[in-house]
Amino acid sequence: MKTVVLAGRLRHVEASPTLALAAKAKALAKAGKPVLDFTAGEPDVPTPEPIKQAGIAAITANRTKYTPVAGTPELRAAVASTINRQLGTNYAASQALICCGAKHALFNIFQALCEPGDEVLLFSPYWVSYPPLVRLTGAKPVIVETRERDGFLPDPSVVRAAITDATKALVLNSPGNPTGAVIDEARLKAIAQIARERGLIVITDEIYDQLVYPPARHVSIVQVEPSLTDQTVLIGGVSKTYSMTGWRIGWALAPDAWIEAMTNVQSHSTSNPASISQDAALAALTGDQRPVADMRRAFEQRRNRLVEGLNRLPGVRCAPPDGAFYAWCNVKALGQPAAATAEQWLDEAMVVTVPGEGFGSSDYVRFSFATSLETIDAGLKRLDAWFRKRKT
Ligand SMILES: Cc1ncc(COP(=O)(O)O)c(C=O)c1O
Repeated sequence: MKTVVLAGRLRHVEASPTLALAAKAKALAKAGKPVLDFTAGEPDVPTPEPIKQAGIAAITANRTKYTPVAGTPELRAAVASTINRQLGTNYAASQALICCGAKHALFNIFQALCEPGDEVLLFSPYWVSYPPLVRLTGAKPVIVETRERDGFLPDPSVVRAAITDATKALVLNSPGNPTGAVIDEARLKAIAQIARERGLIVITDEIYDQLVYPPARHVSIVQVEPSLTDQTVLIGGVSKTYSMTGWRIGWALAPDAWIEAMTNVQSHSTSNPASISQDAALAALTGDQRPVADMRRAFEQRRNRLVEGLNRLPGVRCAPPDGAFYAWCNVKALGQPAAATAEQWLDEAMVVTVPGEGFGSSDYVRFSFATSLETIDAGLKRLDAWFRKRKT
């Protein structure tokens, strides 16, 4: 048989490193190893009961057939009204596209808007999937660095300097994965002004919007600059807020013409997201919101415990993140790339973390605190022992 040559655009697209490590941790745990897993990209609590019941009710009522490609009218309306209530925006239901997770919403929008020759600005450290999502369209990701001393927040003057005639879009992610940084109103205003002047599309990934720890506050670029709504794509979903990662429901809110284009992409790939999951997501958005507040409080306590403990380790530095559920931890002082450190922690302490390389930095390791306080305490104890052994 003739050798099959993979498509050229896949040459720089590798499997997600976060998912790979999480899989390795799960495999070790299954083999009976006493692994402490800090890789989780999902809340550790179950999906709240009323949401699960809505999914079961959808099956019982035979709501198990194709829905409109863009999602059920009820869920599209609920997404628009939820975001309008939270951000004071004015989205119509027609401007909400329901996708198979926020990642799929991002895939659709990049496919709809980007092509070879385009550049897309991404802030580093970035969520691992942004560069491949851009590359899959033939466009080029352009990385704009943020610095630890600025709290990993984008510097508008650096953004301005990175723009070329080929720049088509910029991606914001607040609260951010992996840093937990929450972009403030002043910076958003400055970025909005640049986007307006240069006619850039703003893709704002707000999947962690409900996981922000006081006194920090989630602010969206469409809130501080409502006039930018006509050139912005707002991405969100139920995965993190309602602990529904496996249900695969996310969304994009955007101008009608872009939603139409994304719907076309979706119509030839996945069609509608699962009908059962859509009913469950509707129950999540319209039901009791107390489980969200409970989860936020629990995560805040875990964040404090983890960050305090990490900062007690020699050569490790970590500022408390304002949002999401990740601690982005500086391990540069250990004198080796983060990947080597993470590997040693896995092999010698059975503590599994995600090294920063996949996020664009070899000086940091990401710890997820979407895990129990017991795991956090035990992990810190093992790392403390690892550092003591290392010194001797
Ligand atoms: C920044 C960011 N955006 C999007 C996603 C994808 O979310 P979903 O499960 O809805 O596809 C994740 C998941 O880890 C994320 O961290």
